[in-house]
Amino acid sequence: MQALRAALLRFADDGSALYDEDGLLVIGPDATGQKVVRAAGAYSALHANYPGVAIEHLPGRIIAPGFIDLHVHFPQTDVIGSPAEGLLPWLEDYTFPHEARFSDPAYARGMASFFLDELQRNGVTTALAFCTSHPHSVDALMEEAERRRLRLVAGKVLQDRNSPDGVRDETEQSLIDTETLIRRWHGRGRLGYAITPRFAPSCSEAQLRGAGELAARYPDTWIQSHVAENKEEIRWARELFPASRSYLAVYQDFGLMRERAIYAHCIHFDDADRALMRDTGAAAAVSPTSNLFLGSGFFDYEGARRIGFRHGLASDVGGGTSFCPFHTMLAAYCVGREGQTKPGISLSPQNLWWQHTAGAAQALGLDGVVGNLQPGCEADFVVLDPRATPLLARKTTHARNLDELLFSLIVLADDRAVERVVVDGLAR
Ligand code: GUN
Ligand code: ZN
Repeated sequence: MQALRAALLRFADDGSALYDEDGLLVIGPDATGQKVVRAAGAYSALHANYPGVAIEHLPGRIIAPGFIDLHVHFPQTDVIGSPAEGLLPWLEDYTFPHEARFSDPAYARGMASFFLDELQRNGVTTALAFCTSHPHSVDALMEEAERRRLRLVAGKVLQDRNSPDGVRDETEQSLIDTETLIRRWHGRGRLGYAITPRFAPSCSEAQLRGAGELAARYPDTWIQSHVAENKEEIRWARELFPASRSYLAVYQDFGLMRERAIYAHCIHFDDADRALMRDTGAAAAVSPTSNLFLGSGFFDYEGARRIGFRHGLASDVGGGTSFCPFHTMLAAYCVGREGQTKPGISLSPQNLWWQHTAGAAQALGLDGVVGNLQPGCEADFVVLDPRATPLLARKTTHARNLDELLFSLIVLADDRAVERVVVDGLAR
């Protein structure tokens, strides 16, 4: 067993933050050998229960759950910051040509390593990731995540039409490859597989139908795709699938809406779409830096709350501009202020942080497993230095309560504040 003494941030079941200014986190193996949180709370209440355990004291530091990135593209690490008129030209001009380079397995392996370094440096310990349409891109990412003992869910992109040579796959083979990858990787250690139709316009009906059949045959796999991101894209999806009630309903019509289905963006929804998300247990991966960079629009937080469907935060690198969870939370705050409903809402710092940790875990169906530091949760966490930069130090020193402290970090912190990242009980 190991124990750390520092300020400790966790989340209650209702999403509110629990904070011990002088906290203790005790880590040890569970019955299966998995390193988990054995105890978490006030140092004064807990330390006497662990007489033989060495306690590492980290004065002035904050221990918090590792962040969860609900939607990120590992092959788009080098696409960050590519300007375009909007989503569709961005895909054509930058993203597809770049993803075609992943036909080379050695290139894919090199990028997998750099990508996971970047996630971990920023304190992200769980991600739901797109690979490319090349099956070996999944092997590259999974092998590297397994070596690092990271909890990662990923999948091979399905795109059998409206896609250029180099990334377009073939319907039947793409489904065979998906099933082979599910059998190879899903449930192996801390890894999971996500069935990954890129978005409805890039998939034939036969490919979507096949994806839905696999989702039914392997009900604890994840599903990930994009929806209702951009007005042009929506017009195109509606033209290609005129029988469906809405763009989102295309996925429902092919059996792709269920728990563990995560849809990126979900911006241009009506209330029937929101109710479909709620009723099927699907979740939105809100990607504010991407939506601002590509000019896609603003996620409607008021609508999501009013109807009540699951949502959490995502970088959406490379449409997104940063791997840094602090930058994503700040962008989400700004997007909430804009909203589609005026005057917008002021998301609380506790809620922003929850959306990138325990709330994201709930969206993945992994609540109680990752994204929190309650007893039984896996031992993935970060040690933050609230004095990492001069301005952050001034601001956090003057914080009068937890909300002010968390808001200071959301607005001013970056990877310099992430002093230590612990994955499966081991510091990196
Ligand atoms: N829609 C289809 N593919 C993509 C992608 O790679 N990024 C984003 N942001 N939207 C998409
Ligand atoms: Zn995306």
